[in-house]
Amino acid sequence: MLREEEDKSAIAYLIFLLHVKFEKGPLMILQVRGLNRCFGQLAAIKDLSFEVEGGEIFGIAGPNGAGKTTLFNVISGTLRGSGEIIFDGVNINGLRADQICHKGVARTFQVPQLFSSMSMFENVRVGAHFGVVGGRNERKNISEVINFVGLEGKEKAACATLNTLDQKATMLAAALATKPKLLLLDEPMAGLSPFAIRQFLTLFQRINNELGITLIIIEHRMRVLTELCHRLMVLHNGQKISIGPPKEVVGDKRVMEVYLGVSHA
Ligand SMILES: Nc1ncnc2c1ncn2[C@@H]1O[C@H](COP(=O)(O)OP(=O)(O)OP(=O)(O)O)[C@@H](O)[C@H]1O
Ligand SMILES: [Mg+2]
Repeated sequence: MLREEEDKSAIAYLIFLLHVKFEKGPLMILQVRGLNRCFGQLAAIKDLSFEVEGGEIFGIAGPNGAGKTTLFNVISGTLRGSGEIIFDGVNINGLRADQICHKGVARTFQVPQLFSSMSMFENVRVGAHFGVVGGRNERKNISEVINFVGLEGKEKAACATLNTLDQKATMLAAALATKPKLLLLDEPMAGLSPFAIRQFLTLFQRINNELGITLIIIEHRMRVLTELCHRLMVLHNGQKISIGPPKEVVGDKRVMEVYLGVSHA
């Protein structure tokens, strides 16, 4: 082939690739469409739609009672909601919590959910079993996640004897032991010292960068979310009032009025 023809076909291929990229757009790991969840007369989530891109750190903020934890409960299958929850291309709404976990969604809880009399190692093993990881390399896999979160040396300690930071790290290790693609973190830094918060921020960035896990994190402090997240969503009364890059969301008039209590009247 002549040099000029080679150049032409290379350019044509490049145009084709660009076309594919723009036609398909970014790969969404989670698509929530028209989600609703009521408790009696109270609509905790109202017609909520949003998408999370694979590899993103996505933050969720909002005042107390906004519906943040309910949203995690519905996505992870501990509560039922109506609407679509597409994870990795499959509608997972209506599946059981263990089935959703097996598909690659793990979570941590606002209040640590641990077996307090069991050792830290055993608690992480429970996580691995919930995600059906098991197998010949189970001990090695569990030790790897324990080392990753910085709990090595504390394997035999009963969870009740661990401090708040270590209990939260245990819950994180148990979630990581299920080998998730998407990890939901419900106020993981509540009650931690500024030093511990910094340690956790670094850990979340490593989970995202080194393990390639998409993170959705609920957190009240806008400064923490702005530092950590690629995009934010703010909920109020079960509805999305703002979504986008942190700077835009923090500057959004509705967010200032509702979340930060600043009036622009
Ligand atoms: N199991 C339940 N039964 C009845 N009402 C509930 C239940 N769970 C949550 N709610 C109500 O639904 C609304 C949303 O609660 P949710 O816990 O999702 O809020 P949140 O945004 O996580 O708040 P917080 O910041 O305080 O954790 C609240 O009004 C709450 O009282
Ligand atoms: Mg909550």
